[in-house]
Amino acid sequence: MNHLLKLMDLTEKDIIDILNTADQLKYEKKNGITHHILKGKTLGMIFEKSSTRTRVSFEVGMYDLGGTALFLSARDLQIGRGEPVQDTARVLSRYLDGIMIRTFDQEEVESLAKYGTIPIINGLTDYCHPCQVLADLMTIREHKGGLKGLKMCYIGDGNNMTNSIIVGCIKMGMSVSVACPDGYTPDADIMKWASENGTFECTTDVLKAAKDADVLYTDVWASMGQEGEAEERKKIFKGYQINSDVMAVAHDDAMVLHCLPAHRGEEITDEVLEAHADEIFDEAENRLHAQKAVLVKCLA
Ligand code: CP
Ligand code: NVA
Repeated sequence: MNHLLKLMDLTEKDIIDILNTADQLKYEKKNGITHHILKGKTLGMIFEKSSTRTRVSFEVGMYDLGGTALFLSARDLQIGRGEPVQDTARVLSRYLDGIMIRTFDQEEVESLAKYGTIPIINGLTDYCHPCQVLADLMTIREHKGGLKGLKMCYIGDGNNMTNSIIVGCIKMGMSVSVACPDGYTPDADIMKWASENGTFECTTDVLKAAKDADVLYTDVWASMGQEGEAEERKKIFKGYQINSDVMAVAHDDAMVLHCLPAHRGEEITDEVLEAHADEIFDEAENRLHAQKAVLVKCLA
């Protein structure tokens, strides 16, 4: 694997391979076993948006694997003042062994990969969040013992998370039901692909989507970059929430996941989040192990 730009580029086998490596790395970390597989390697981490989990998991991940991580805020880089991504890619390729980038436009990530000569890892764009979904699949597998045949239900904004959840879950043989308001559905290309390659539905009916679900997932109603729409979105998304009514129609042992940060009382109630905190914080922890697996696949 050269890059991780989006999950659509990976096969089911690639995903299983990453999940198996992540499980192994988690076991080793818990047992104090270290492998400095990335000794002497440096990862540049470009952030054009905020981050807690992605930044810390990649940074700690690099140290765990014997390498170094450089935090590069777009505010300080010349890219933030308009230096073309083609030039940035070619310059950074001469200093670094890999780049993890969090930005707005998916095209920017694809351009880094096109013009640079080092592995590029997508740490979230407006289009997708592949690293998060690898950690999510790892967490579901850990709690449920497998993935095939499970029903994933996503409730809320059809955003970057939704796009990656759909692709990741369908590739792993899960069915996916999404409940979103009209006009806030996932990207059309993703929905078309999902309908042609698996069991997929997109509805405005939250309870229909949640019926018999094995995993319930939600994300914020206003993503990074949409802060100005937050008040309007609170009205549009009212009811698109994981709450006790939704839990009542899902399977009794349904898991709840949230990529975090969460807005309690909006997309999820405090009660449901706290009742499923073990799953949600295992999911957050698994960012570290899954990111290390991605680093090993791309950089080792
Ligand atoms: N879930 C996630 O990507 O979190 P951060 O925005 O904190 O990195
Ligand atoms: N959809 C959210 C995900 C944050 C991890 C955002 O883009 O802000």
